[in-house]
Amino acid sequence: MPTFKLDGKTIPFEPGDTIIQAAYREGIEIPHYCWHPGLSAPANCRMCLVEILPKPGARPLMLDVLQWDARAGAYRTTQKPKLQPACYTAAADGMDVRGDTSEHARKARHDVQEFLLLNHPVDCPICDQSGECKLQDYWLEYGQYQKRMRDEPVHKPKGVVFGPTIVYDGERCVMCTRCTRFMAEVAKDPVLDMRERGNLNEIFVAPGRQLDGHYTFMTEHVCPVGALTTKDFRFKARVWFLKTAPAICQGCATGCNAHLDYDPRYSKVYRYRPRDNEKVNKYWMCDEGMLSYKEAHEGRLLEPKVRGVAMPTAKALEEIKSLFAGVPKDVVAIVLSASHSLEDNWALLELGTVLLGAKHVYVSGRPDGYADDILIHRDKNSNTRGVMELAPNAKPLSALVADAKAGLTHVLALGGAAPSDVGDLRSLKVVTVAAHEGPLTSIATVALPAASWAEASGTYVNAKGIRQGSEKALEPQGASKPAWRQLADVAAALGFEATWSKLRQIRTNLIGTGAASSTPALSNARAASAE
Ligand code: SF4
Ligand code: SF4
Ligand code: FES
Repeated sequence: MPTFKLDGKTIPFEPGDTIIQAAYREGIEIPHYCWHPGLSAPANCRMCLVEILPKPGARPLMLDVLQWDARAGAYRTTQKPKLQPACYTAAADGMDVRGDTSEHARKARHDVQEFLLLNHPVDCPICDQSGECKLQDYWLEYGQYQKRMRDEPVHKPKGVVFGPTIVYDGERCVMCTRCTRFMAEVAKDPVLDMRERGNLNEIFVAPGRQLDGHYTFMTEHVCPVGALTTKDFRFKARVWFLKTAPAICQGCATGCNAHLDYDPRYSKVYRYRPRDNEKVNKYWMCDEGMLSYKEAHEGRLLEPKVRGVAMPTAKALEEIKSLFAGVPKDVVAIVLSASHSLEDNWALLELGTVLLGAKHVYVSGRPDGYADDILIHRDKNSNTRGVMELAPNAKPLSALVADAKAGLTHVLALGGAAPSDVGDLRSLKVVTVAAHEGPLTSIATVALPAASWAEASGTYVNAKGIRQGSEKALEPQGASKPAWRQLADVAAALGFEATWSKLRQIRTNLIGTGAASSTPALSNARAASAE
C-alpha cells in the first residue's frame, strides 16, 4: 500500500484518497470545517491547509506575502510556502506533509480561526453546540488571541425557523455549506442554499419550501458549529453532563449505528447521534430514527399487569403459574418478537420449546411502513432477520388466529407490538414480556415489564444479515428487567430450572444457532461518530 508522511507519521492510503481522508482513516484529525467524510469537498473554509515539502531537488512553490515589521513601522515583502488544502489534495506516494509541525500551517489555521470569528457573536454560554463545537476546539488549539477588530460585528438573521425540526442562526454560521451539500447529495432534496456574498452570506431555504422530509436532523448533525439546532434538543441539556452508549436504532431493519446520549443523573435519554459504520448507515440516520430515542421513556410498560391491573411481580408470576398448570404442551404457542434482541428471543424459545415442549412458534412485530432507497427500510423491526435465523420455521402472527381455532389456548409472547389487529386472540390466555404497551399487552392476561434496548445489552441482525451489538445505557426503569431475565423468573415460577442466568451464558448458547456465531461485538469499524 502506498504511504505518505504526516508530521513524521507514516499514513497508508488508497489511490484516490485525499490527505485528510487517509489521515481520518488512521484516526488523525486534520482541522477542518467544510470537509465531511460523507460529502463532496468544496475546500472553502481553508482550515485544513498543510505544507507539502518539495521533493529533493525540486523548486519549492513560494508566495510573496506582506509582513508587518513592528520595528520599522512598515510592511515588508517576504515569502512563504504555498499551502495546500488537505481536503482537496490527493495523497501521493512518498509525500512529506506538515500540519501541526509547520509554523506556516499553524499560522494559517490561526488566521482562518480569527477570520471566522470576526463577526461571530461568541455566545457559547447559551449555544447548544457548546462543548462539541469545532470553533471552540480549534480556538483552543490554534486561536488563543486577543480580538483585534473594534468595529460592530455584522448582524445576521437569528432564530430562523427552517422547518418543523430545525432553527438557523446566521451569526454563528461559518458558511461551510455542509448542510446544503447534505441535503443535495445525501437526502437528494436540494432545499438549502447560500445567498449574498462576503460577510453578508447566509443559508436560506428555497422559496415556497421548508426544510422538511426524512433527513432534516442530519443538517444539524453535520453543522460543525451552533448555527443549526434541532427544536427537539435546543436548550434541553449541556452536553458535558451527558454520557453515551453505543446503540442500534430500533426504528427499522436497517439497524443504523448510533450514540445514545443520556444524563446519568436523571436516567434520562436526550438524543441519538449517528455512529459511523460504512457497511450500514455510513454517517447518517433518518429523522424517525433520531427521534426514536424517546421510546426509552414513552409508552413503557413499567409494572406487571394482570388483566390490565397493576400487580406486584410475585402475584403476576403466581397467576402465570396457575394459568399454565397442567396445560398440555400441544395447546401452547410461542410468539417471538422481531423487535427484541437475539438473547431475549433465545430465552423465550428455550423456555417455550425446550422446557414447556411447545411446537407452535410464531413471530410478531411492528407493521411495515415507509421506505426509501437511502436508509429507511419498510420493515420497522430491528431484528426480523435474527429471529428468522433463530427459528426459521416461525410463522407470522396472523397464522396464530387460524391455529387458535384448531385448539391452541395458551400463548407465551415477547413484546407488545403486532403487525395487525390481535382482537381475535382475546379468547386465549396470553402472557407477554414487553418493554412497551401495545396490542399484545392490551389483550394479555399477564404482562411483565421488560427493559428496553436502552436498559439492556443485546444483539440484533439487520436486513443485510449484519449482526450488531447494542449496549446498555440506563438501569432498567420501574419494575422492568431484561426480558431474558424475566423469562428465567417465569421458568422458575413454572417449576423449571432455567439454563440461563447470565447474558454470557445465552451468548454461548447462541453459538451454533445460525443467528449468532460468536459473542456479539460492536460491528462498527469506528466507535466515534464522524463529527
Ligand atoms: S448552517 Fe452550519 S452546516 Fe450550514 S453552512 Fe452554516 S455552519 Fe455550515
Ligand atoms: S433508517 Fe431505520 S435504523 Fe436507520 S435511523 Fe432510520 S429508523 Fe433507525
Ligand atoms: S476542510 Fe475546509 S478547506 Fe479543507
